[in-house]
Amino acid sequence: MEKQFKRHLVTSALPYANGPVHIGHLAGVYVPADIYVRYLRLKGEDVLFIGGSDEHGVPITIKAKREGCTPQDVVDKYHKIIKDSFAELGISFDVYSRTSSATHHKTAAAFFKKLYDDGKFVERESEQYFDVEANTFLADRYITGTCPKCGAEGAYGDQCEKCGSTLSPDELINPKSAISGGELVKRPTKHWYLPLDQYEGWLKEWILDGHKEWKTNVYGQCKSWIDGGLQPRAVSRDLDWGVPVPVEGAEGKVLYVWFDAPIGYISNTIELLPDEWEKWWKSEDTKMVHFIGKDNIVFHCIVFPSMLKAYGDGFILPENVPANEFLNLEGDKISTSRNWAVWLHEYLVDFPGKQDVLRYVLCANAPETKDNDFTWKDFQTRNNSELVAIYGNFVNRAIVLTHKYFEGKVPALGALADVDREVLAEIPQIKASLEHNLSNYKFREALKDAMNLARLGNKYLTETEPWKLAKTDMERVATILNISLQLCANLAIAFEPFLPFSSAKLVKMLNLEKIGWAEFGGSEILAAGHQLNAAELLFAKIEDAEIQVQIDKLNATKEANEAKAAAEKPANAPLPQKEECTFDDFMKMDIRTATVLEAVKVPKTDKLLQLTIDTGIDRRTIVSGIAEHYTPEEMVGKQICILANLAPRKIRGIESKGMILMAKDENGRMRFVTPADVVDNGACVG
Ligand code: MF3
Ligand code: ZN
Repeated sequence: MEKQFKRHLVTSALPYANGPVHIGHLAGVYVPADIYVRYLRLKGEDVLFIGGSDEHGVPITIKAKREGCTPQDVVDKYHKIIKDSFAELGISFDVYSRTSSATHHKTAAAFFKKLYDDGKFVERESEQYFDVEANTFLADRYITGTCPKCGAEGAYGDQCEKCGSTLSPDELINPKSAISGGELVKRPTKHWYLPLDQYEGWLKEWILDGHKEWKTNVYGQCKSWIDGGLQPRAVSRDLDWGVPVPVEGAEGKVLYVWFDAPIGYISNTIELLPDEWEKWWKSEDTKMVHFIGKDNIVFHCIVFPSMLKAYGDGFILPENVPANEFLNLEGDKISTSRNWAVWLHEYLVDFPGKQDVLRYVLCANAPETKDNDFTWKDFQTRNNSELVAIYGNFVNRAIVLTHKYFEGKVPALGALADVDREVLAEIPQIKASLEHNLSNYKFREALKDAMNLARLGNKYLTETEPWKLAKTDMERVATILNISLQLCANLAIAFEPFLPFSSAKLVKMLNLEKIGWAEFGGSEILAAGHQLNAAELLFAKIEDAEIQVQIDKLNATKEANEAKAAAEKPANAPLPQKEECTFDDFMKMDIRTATVLEAVKVPKTDKLLQLTIDTGIDRRTIVSGIAEHYTPEEMVGKQICILANLAPRKIRGIESKGMILMAKDENGRMRFVTPADVVDNGACVG
């Protein structure tokens, strides 16, 4: 028997307020979380949905420096953009606050202080990089250098963005300050560590034995962290942006962003319910669920629970942490720095009134078990052939026909035929499947269930053809439309968690007061004689031209990125490797050593030299485009390598038989290839 809970505390990862939100965030975290809480509310459950901005951390301070403003300016700007765009998409947070708020600073500092006073931290001094010029310790992100793994320049002290490796500042080759570009020295500094190693046994029991039902990606990551052995983690940093460490002798130190941010879930609850928040956080009757992306798993499954455990005092732990994988865009990783994304605030401008279309497509494609791809073509197809052609079409036919034949009043049900009974019997079955999928975080499957209900309606109308019966059997038409309208009412409920704007429209068309999960499954939601409102279209077709605008926008981004990459690349950067060739392909090339006997410029050209070559097998002429790189005198007597069996070509009327092997130096000058020691002419190279 599953445990019954009295209330549900649902959190979604607090996005960093250093940029707007994109479809990857939405598909991974916010759309599924919102579907879940809307479902619970429809069922009449006591629910709290907590969101907010994560406003600390080094990337925010770097952005501020780059833009010549304060970190507070940066987070003010993005907090507003994010908060407003979430609201417009219908993400129904009960509170959306921020970690720069006074409430949060107070809460996070008090949390730290209690753990500190209870002796839950270990204090350690270590040598860390210090920027002499800027007179400050440098957090990982402020240190750049060469990646020890792939050799890329500009890797950060915590990560190389080129190859994706996780790094520590000590591993960087030639580390430099990202602030001043200046020299770094090591200096001792003191920090507080949460000794995760002491929680290993407990975590094993709680997660590995106790939560085998967690999604395989989540459980698997936890297992590999725990099996790999946990290390103490620093919970403070030398930085001037964040929650100051509330103990003496900690000047210039703030709480590490991953220590303070999850406490934000608590602070935001306190802000909303200053007198009642403990009921949500300290009662075994609360079911807490964290919605996150896969890069957040360790913090929500291991670090934050260990913090709560260390705190004690009745704090509950999450019952589940449904983390998603990543969403790609048109086959490529979403990237803020490359601007490879569909930004929510831009989508809302480009597609006004189409919030539900985005919600639908992102749920249908949600990366629940593996990374997934968003394409604009798929977006269009799902709108046109699913939302418009199935759901929208069915609802429209049912309501328009009711207006046509019955003045918009729900007609009375007559005698039931088999086809009617079958349809009515299927509704509760679909409801059961939806409930199962929604409570198990299988939102894609759940959305399919809801769509199946619309398919059922469409099929029913197509089979019964009431528009034909209208000439002969009005009683039968009444029954068919009554059932169709009941289906519409059921659809309004089934789709509410996914497509709340469309459900609201449909509820209005059906002239219903309000809907709840309890009514779902019924065949008498609408009484005979009930007056409907006018029909409106639930969805509109999206034309090729609208999609093309988006594809053009992405192509422009791609071109700009390529141009930028080309501009940054040094002239002598090696070209990518050519297509693979076989051993036989190679053996066809007859490459030989040879000596230049004579060299003259080809008249009336700048680039060409005419060379007479001793190849060991013959004497021949080769015309070569090297006159800008070598004088004739420099070439005479040199031993070189040639491709001997290249098909002869006439160049400026001179027959050239073969090609000289050359390589470009760092200044773009061609240099001929020569054997390390003098060998006989005609020796095969290979
Ligand atoms: N800002 C983090 C991210 O975007 C998520 C923080 S979640 C919280 O990856 F729990 F720390 F709030
Ligand atoms: Zn690298």
